[in-house]
Amino acid sequence: MIAIDGPSASGKGTVASRVAAQLGFHYLDSGALYRLTALGARRAGVHLPPVEHAIPPGLEQQLATHAAGLDVRFVGEQIFLAGEEVSLALRDEQTSREASRVAALGAVRAALLQRQRDFRVAPGLVTDGRDMATVVFPDAQVKIFLTASAEERAARRYKQLIGKGLTANIDDLLRDIHERDQRDASRALAPLVQDLRASLLDTTCLTADAAVEEVLRRYHASIDAPCN
Ligand code: DC
Repeated sequence: MIAIDGPSASGKGTVASRVAAQLGFHYLDSGALYRLTALGARRAGVHLPPVEHAIPPGLEQQLATHAAGLDVRFVGEQIFLAGEEVSLALRDEQTSREASRVAALGAVRAALLQRQRDFRVAPGLVTDGRDMATVVFPDAQVKIFLTASAEERAARRYKQLIGKGLTANIDDLLRDIHERDQRDASRALAPLVQDLRASLLDTTCLTADAAVEEVLRRYHASIDAPCN
């Protein structure tokens, strides 16, 4: 079990999925579950209030019910919500912003907890998120906190969006990243923090290949010396 946590757009999804492929392990993108909750709720006509207003308890319950009943299928790199391919829609900026708000709600997190743990099946699981090492899989064998500077993350997100044919503005992306970092790290429930047993991997100046190799090196080192 390899748990990789880190901030938005740090590249942890790319690294985690490639490590999983190399080891023949399963892969869980836990952020996708929060994105699916936000997108699915919006499509069902459940809308969040403006960002300056708190989400009221009744709406939190509605969102949690929605999260518990998500009809989702992961097929390779594709994600299906109620039978429809939504991989691209999940990544747009509105869904990213809403996912971050929905993820701060205790009832939603509780509704998604067991669902995430169910992905832990043989021969192994590589997962990425914010609380993989701290809350969802606290006994993970390898824990990594993967990060990069906010500017580098905004630049990577920009390239990714443009590459997918979407429009993007680098200043808006950087502002969104700062806002999301702040919300994910300061929320009361399962905030983004480096677990005490997690090792830091700063990828600001690393290629994805080098980051994948480094995670694999730490994984193999943990097998050779499990108590270190
Ligand atoms: O990793 P991501 O950007 O796809 O995550 C989307 C949102 O979900 C992000 O704002 C943080 C939140 N999230 C979370 O709270 N806990 C996780 N384990 C994964 C993501």
